[in-house]
Amino acid sequence: ELSPIEMAKYVAGRRAADLVEDGMRVGLGTGSTAAWLVKSLGARVRNEGLSITAVPTSSRTAALAREVGIDVVSLEDARWLDLTIDGADEFDLAFNLIKGGGGAHLQEKIVATASDRMVVIADPAKAVAQLGAFPLPVEVIGFGWTASRKLIAEALEGLDVLGREITLRMAGETPFRTDEGNLVLDLHLGRIGNPRQLALVLNQIPGVVENGLFIDICDAVVIGHPDGRAELRD
Ligand code: A5P
Repeated sequence: ELSPIEMAKYVAGRRAADLVEDGMRVGLGTGSTAAWLVKSLGARVRNEGLSITAVPTSSRTAALAREVGIDVVSLEDARWLDLTIDGADEFDLAFNLIKGGGGAHLQEKIVATASDRMVVIADPAKAVAQLGAFPLPVEVIGFGWTASRKLIAEALEGLDVLGREITLRMAGETPFRTDEGNLVLDLHLGRIGNPRQLALVLNQIPGVVENGLFIDICDAVVIGHPDGRAELRD
């Protein structure tokens, strides 16, 4: 009953759940693929008595985790994590990522970089030769956000990208708000020539809280396939 793409996401999440060992401190990602991971981990907690310390990357994931029987704690309480497993919107050959399609990339980046290891779970469509077809999410403070947008547009002028359109993410009639109460600008770049440089430039701009580029953070990718196969690349 699952569509091919949903099957691939399920397989990736299910397979990655097996990377978690008893006693581990684990970061739980956000999104439709990460939801399969959380459900699979919940099943292991219930069926095998697996004991983990789990830190969610969003209020959505926290709610789902509790629903499936996983106790969650804050990152402040866990302090440091063994492993974070999360989805991605795009990953390239160097395992650099675009994240934040769900608007959770700020917490996701904090949790991932507080972990010894980060594993991405994805369907094959997320693999790209070069990042940028997926609009890059940038979380900005609500105060003076149009000024931040102007500075971002100016910064993009000098950079190796194809497109430069910037849109304010909406949730129906009103602007989308992150878990931190901030706004998200989506940068329609088409192709990002130098993701490392772009990530640094964006985070220098006043009002920018965090961008969705994950550079040198991801260690491995579990790719699920619609036929039920899962491959671990690292
Ligand atoms: C959430 O903010 C994102 O970073 C997600 O990890 C990303 O959007 C992947 O989501 P899907 O698994 O639903 O594609």
